[in-house]
Amino acid sequence: MTMNSPLWGAELDHIRLDSAAPERLAAFYRDAFAMVEQPLADGSTLLRGQNRRLIVGAAGGAEPTAGQPYSAFRFPDGAGLAAYKAHLTAQGVNLMPCPTPLFAPGAFAVADPDGRHMVFGLAAGAGQSDAMAADGAAGHPPGRLQHVVVATADLAAMMAFYENTLGFVATDHVLRDDEGGGQTLTAVFYRSTPEHHSFAMFLSDAARPDHHAYEVSCWNDIRDWADHMAALEIKLWWGPGRHGPGNNLFFMVEDPDGYKVEISAELESMADDDPVRHWPHTERSLNLWGPGWMRA
Ligand SMILES: [Fe+2]
Repeated sequence: MTMNSPLWGAELDHIRLDSAAPERLAAFYRDAFAMVEQPLADGSTLLRGQNRRLIVGAAGGAEPTAGQPYSAFRFPDGAGLAAYKAHLTAQGVNLMPCPTPLFAPGAFAVADPDGRHMVFGLAAGAGQSDAMAADGAAGHPPGRLQHVVVATADLAAMMAFYENTLGFVATDHVLRDDEGGGQTLTAVFYRSTPEHHSFAMFLSDAARPDHHAYEVSCWNDIRDWADHMAALEIKLWWGPGRHGPGNNLFFMVEDPDGYKVEISAELESMADDDPVRHWPHTERSLNLWGPGWMRA
């Protein structure tokens, strides 16, 4: 099933965060996540570290997705991107200009039902991993930008778009028991490679950014990142713990705008034909070790 998805092989390359105080936000990511700041031509700022990058810009709108206006996924090669573009075109999806300067010509964007943009393209110039390998401050543990998560008030419409139109493959569902005996989906985790999820969404009262995550190589890296945060007097906001879906070790911190950022390790790898699994909507599903962050 998964290998038939035209999206298969695409990985999260970068996201954009917009802020009313972009200089403060960029400085936070530079220091907390050991990245180098680089001004871009449009006035935004690129933050680059080893295998991680994001763009911070000035807040431009009041729409609920404004704080995290797009997520950009990178295809491994031009043939994959071309096939994906043809797949979307055949469905009548409106393809829009690429909003990010970090992708090569030929990249494009689509709008999801909440108005957030998903961008698909190829790394500009040399392969992204080559170009990014030398960036970032030395001496820090690794942290590869790995997944991005959004909250939505309309999970059904969002699921239809992300699964049927875009081709994300569902890995895990979280279900809440209703008083009437039925069940309500409260979270869906999606993969686009064997990694358990590269994208996920949570049911909430409104569309909003949720968090993004950097994957590290082991538990000791989590310790080292937590010590790094401690040196900067950045308190852990949630965790350390272990998620049920994904089985990954994690902690989260809050950036100055209240957006959550995760350090993760041991994220599960899935087999191509693994069916969707189901989890109860409990604190324990979200954190096997302790308190859960309940969005709904
Ligand atoms: Fe996460």
